[in-house]
Amino acid sequence: MQQIYRLVYASKANIDLGTTGINPEVSRILLKSKSNNAKRMIGGVLYYADGYFFQVLEGEKEKVCDLYEKISLDDRHSTVKILTEGYMSKPQFSNWSMHFVAADSSIRQLLADHAFNEFKPFDIPLVVIEKMVTVLSNNGAYEREQNTDTSAGLVTKMKSFFMKSKTA
Ligand SMILES: Cc1cc2nc3c(=O)[nH]c(=O)nc-3n(C[C@H](O)[C@H](O)[C@H](O)COP(=O)(O)O)c2cc1C
Repeated sequence: MQQIYRLVYASKANIDLGTTGINPEVSRILLKSKSNNAKRMIGGVLYYADGYFFQVLEGEKEKVCDLYEKISLDDRHSTVKILTEGYMSKPQFSNWSMHFVAADSSIRQLLADHAFNEFKPFDIPLVVIEKMVTVLSNNGAYEREQNTDTSAGLVTKMKSFFMKSKTA
């Protein structure tokens, strides 16, 4: 069985998508992606928030890398950088297409839980990038972790410790 190759990159958008992500240029990208990606059997998701694109491309390695090369030359974005790539045991995205998500509340919550109030993909650690991909592949379903030991979790714990010691 052929293994699935997954490439995740982020870039700075050169087009203004505002807060809604609605832009005729994005519609053109998606229209193109839907027909091209189906032919190449590539699946994934395109996320946009705070002036950045974040895209997951999944499929046969050569096809994914060729498409990435092409996308990286597109002047509708710049500073195109791979965040992670490699073989996966199974696909995370079921359709050979390109699903678009803009400034999703579950993603914002996930990032806030890791002390990121803005989407700055180049600063986000790989573990959080992986969680983002999982949320995007689950149609935005995000189960918040209990007893998180992330910096945001620690700040919350410290705050509650000081509140308790003040009232004691
Ligand atoms: C952020 C971003 C994501 C894109 N994603 C895809 C994609 O998933 N598939 C695709 O075919 N083109 C995508 N494009 C468009 C490509 O850069 C390129 O314009 C297109 O593939 C050209 O297709 P053609 O050779 O059939 O004319 C994307 C462009 C941008 C700026």
